[in-house]
Amino acid sequence: MNTEILIGKDYWKHEREQVDLPVYWKASEVSNHHVGVAGTTGAGKTHWIRTFVGGMPEEVEVDIFDYHGDIEIPGAHEVLFSEATRYGYNPLVLNTDPHYGGVRRAVADVIETINSTSRKLGGNQESVLRNLLIDAYAARGILADDPSSWHRREADDDEIREIIARHDWDSLRQVYPTLTDVIRLGKRKLKALWMGIDDGEPGKRSLSAFDEYCRTMQQLNKTRSRLNATSSRMDEEEVARLEKRLVAMRDKAKDAHSLFLDEMSTGMEFEEAIKYNSKDVMLSVITRLENLKSLGLFTPNPPPFGQARIRRYNIKPLAQSEDELKMFVRFRLRSIIREMMQRGDSGGKLRRLVVLDESKMFNDEERTNPINRIVNEMRKFGLAILLAGQSPTHFSSDFIANAGTLLLLNLATSDWDDAARKLKIDQKKLRYLRPQMSGAVRMLEKGKTADFRTVSFA
Ligand SMILES: Nc1ncnc2c1ncn2[C@@H]1O[C@H](COP(=O)(O)OP(=O)(O)OP(=O)(O)O)[C@@H](O)[C@H]1O
Ligand SMILES: [Mg+2]
Repeated sequence: MNTEILIGKDYWKHEREQVDLPVYWKASEVSNHHVGVAGTTGAGKTHWIRTFVGGMPEEVEVDIFDYHGDIEIPGAHEVLFSEATRYGYNPLVLNTDPHYGGVRRAVADVIETINSTSRKLGGNQESVLRNLLIDAYAARGILADDPSSWHRREADDDEIREIIARHDWDSLRQVYPTLTDVIRLGKRKLKALWMGIDDGEPGKRSLSAFDEYCRTMQQLNKTRSRLNATSSRMDEEEVARLEKRLVAMRDKAKDAHSLFLDEMSTGMEFEEAIKYNSKDVMLSVITRLENLKSLGLFTPNPPPFGQARIRRYNIKPLAQSEDELKMFVRFRLRSIIREMMQRGDSGGKLRRLVVLDESKMFNDEERTNPINRIVNEMRKFGLAILLAGQSPTHFSSDFIANAGTLLLLNLATSDWDDAARKLKIDQKKLRYLRPQMSGAVRMLEKGKTADFRTVSFA
């Protein structure tokens, strides 16, 4: 790929020698295709996003997450994500690749997505949610350990409701579960928890007979000790009545328990009951799932990007909720990572670029953060990220260390100290930068030192 993008001209060459020396970003020279652009508002970040995306060759796919709604790019196909359009992805649709996909990864993605918000799941909630998701898959015959069971069709909630209404269980097993299915299953489990031990009748009956037997025995013992103290006639009668009742209760409990044992079928009945922890935890998990569902982003209604090469996710309407934005972007990035790993090694050739403006909201130092995963692991799979932010402090240290290209535009004076230290750039160079006029670019290139070079755009 001989893609070249003109960054500007060498500032000092021009100042000192009046010579115009163009500085190019060369896809074949940079050690990787990740790009970071930092600058204050109005400095020109979005302008550079347009320039880079516009310079990408025909074979590179681009996914732009645009939450200001201002990254207009010729040839891009835009889809608006809002409460009105209700486009979204079913998070339970599986990547069927035995190495990169499967049930466990999908379950982990849902949990990670929720945990990327300000309200993380507690340990008990997480394990209840994990069990619930695995059971929702299992109900469709989709098993974590059997990749041959991972292929299913996507259906939306209306179609699933219709299939259930006509009791067409064969068809139901042909489609992936949705959040609605998981919520439905959760409510059924909750009911079982309220009523007894496990989902089945014999278990419930056995437990309540056992409870009754225990209660009678407690009553009997209490009445006996009172009788010792009072020798009252009434207590004596009561003891006799309770002794008789105890025998009856013991027989009933024995019968119910032996019926439960006879009808046990999986050997997992007890585990079934305890893995769902408490009613409170189950209820809180159901509430979280209901909230997630009501956002609409995780309901099956795929955005109509068709075959578009440049996809612009206009997520401006979601920008009111930070949690919502984070969940959406992180979830999408994780599926894109998976898709690209599944396509296999590209030999370093760029195949797909994701563009994310305002990195502050999505940035952290966690290794599991999809941005850090892309910058650390995805070069060989041909996936790169173009990340823009108001300040280099909004880039993780992994990003700063590994991004092949960093373009600094005019930075806020309050960021100079941090930037100089983190990026090993002379503060003087930062002082020279003028919004929309100049920048400092560091390109990691084979056989060259990675210094910041001042370029002017005019
Ligand atoms: N290198 C440049 N050459 C010419 N015009 C530019 C250049 N960079 C930016 N501009 C113009 O300056 C204005 C502000 O730029 P831009 O929208 O890219 O800023 P931004 O850094 O994205 O700001 P914000 O953080 O507010 O989104 C735009 O009208 C843009 O066209
Ligand atoms: Mg902008």
